[in-house]
Amino acid sequence: MAKPQTSYHCQSCGFAAAKWTGKCDGCGAWNSLIEEKIEQKPGIGKSKAGRMMALESLTPKEPQKPVIRQKSAMDEFDRVMGGGIVPGSATLIGGDPGIGKSTLLLQLVCQLVSNGHQTAYVSGEESADQVRMRAQRLGLGHTDVGLATATNAMDIAETIRREPNLDVVIIDSIQTMYLPGLDSAPGTVSQVRASAQELTRAAKTSGAAVIFVGHVTKDGAIAGPRVLEHMVDTVLYFEGDRSHHFRILRGVKNRFGATDEIGVFEMTENGLQQVPNPSELFLADRTESVAGTAVLAGMEGTRPLLVEIEALVAPSSLASPRRNVVGWDNSRLAMLTAVLEARCGVPLSGRDIFLNVAGGMKIQEPAADMAVAAALISSVTDRPLPQRTVFFGEVALSAEIRQVAQADARLKEAAKLGFDQAIMPKPRKKLASPSGLGLAQPASLIELIEILGGLSE
Ligand code: TYD
Ligand code: MG
Repeated sequence: MAKPQTSYHCQSCGFAAAKWTGKCDGCGAWNSLIEEKIEQKPGIGKSKAGRMMALESLTPKEPQKPVIRQKSAMDEFDRVMGGGIVPGSATLIGGDPGIGKSTLLLQLVCQLVSNGHQTAYVSGEESADQVRMRAQRLGLGHTDVGLATATNAMDIAETIRREPNLDVVIIDSIQTMYLPGLDSAPGTVSQVRASAQELTRAAKTSGAAVIFVGHVTKDGAIAGPRVLEHMVDTVLYFEGDRSHHFRILRGVKNRFGATDEIGVFEMTENGLQQVPNPSELFLADRTESVAGTAVLAGMEGTRPLLVEIEALVAPSSLASPRRNVVGWDNSRLAMLTAVLEARCGVPLSGRDIFLNVAGGMKIQEPAADMAVAAALISSVTDRPLPQRTVFFGEVALSAEIRQVAQADARLKEAAKLGFDQAIMPKPRKKLASPSGLGLAQPASLIELIEILGGLSE
């Protein structure tokens, strides 16, 4: 009998290797290769000639109907999706276990039902009773959501095709699904990929939208949903810090909208609550008279977001001092400290630096540079920054302050939340300062230090 052929698949990136290695050659992950049987695809090897296809014109023959997105009335979710769920689309929501994916999606389907849509929630992880119990706890126990506990992707796909008028189907989670025709265990790359393919195909033919839940684990034991990212239309990440109540839904890929939008939620004992004005929440427990804290007037997608940045500069007893960053980029901090030290004479070498973005937010935009610089200067001089002041602006290697996009929106949000002053880059065209906000526009970090009262303690 012929020996069954196997190959080794990386569970985080899907790379296939003939031999087992400790480190994946594809993505560099360690211990992520798992042996899987090679599936013999019928027809391969029997070189069948292809058929000529007729090409269609890009211009539609008849005027196309505009796509009607299904709005969930959960604004934070709809915004990240680009304005609602597109019929027939496939979405993947990734996130750490326990972050709240099942809770979010259960609340979402219930919202959709109250908006008149038909939905189904397929759980492969929890029993029907467990899902019911959760729905009851959330006060949604009497909503008309179709519920199934299943892990056979063929059965689910058939149900999607046959059930009339189904609008949205949740698959929780894709790692528990399997195709009976495949030998590998559920959760392996081949099963995850094949199940997702089958379910997406069913969705495309029936017009129902599917939303997959995908767990991301650090050790790569379960197939990371990254192998699915190219198969689905939209990829969202649900992130947050377990020690904080905030959860952020972030778009990383979207064929039907922008990807830089975020949705902010708060985990409460009654499930996830939307946070329509996150700035207020992020600044809620701020004490202004502490040295080392600065408020950044940031942007997340189309929405301004004010967050507090905390810095602590302390003498170090280590040969290479600590640089500890939470919520910002490590290498960006290294660049900024080098500029502050070399160009402005701020004494930072030989000192530990701790930097923290309050509330568990992760900041990616370069506009945070000026706020971080201000927080560092304030910590070094041990003088609190001017009260009710926001900061934004990018810092160049020459210590010049560069402009950033959407200054108007940032200033408006700051004025709305009761700030008096903004320290920002010099704009190219004249800016109208919203309702009494004082503007200071340093050309470089050296000028910023002057505005903040110099370096003497
Ligand atoms: P869950 O949705 O099960 O996470 P995931 O599907 O991403 O694994 O959320 C689990 C956590 O959420 C759990 O630790 C408890 C918390 N939680 C609340 O705080 N309040 C609630 O009302 C619910 C339903 C869950
Ligand atoms: Mg879950």
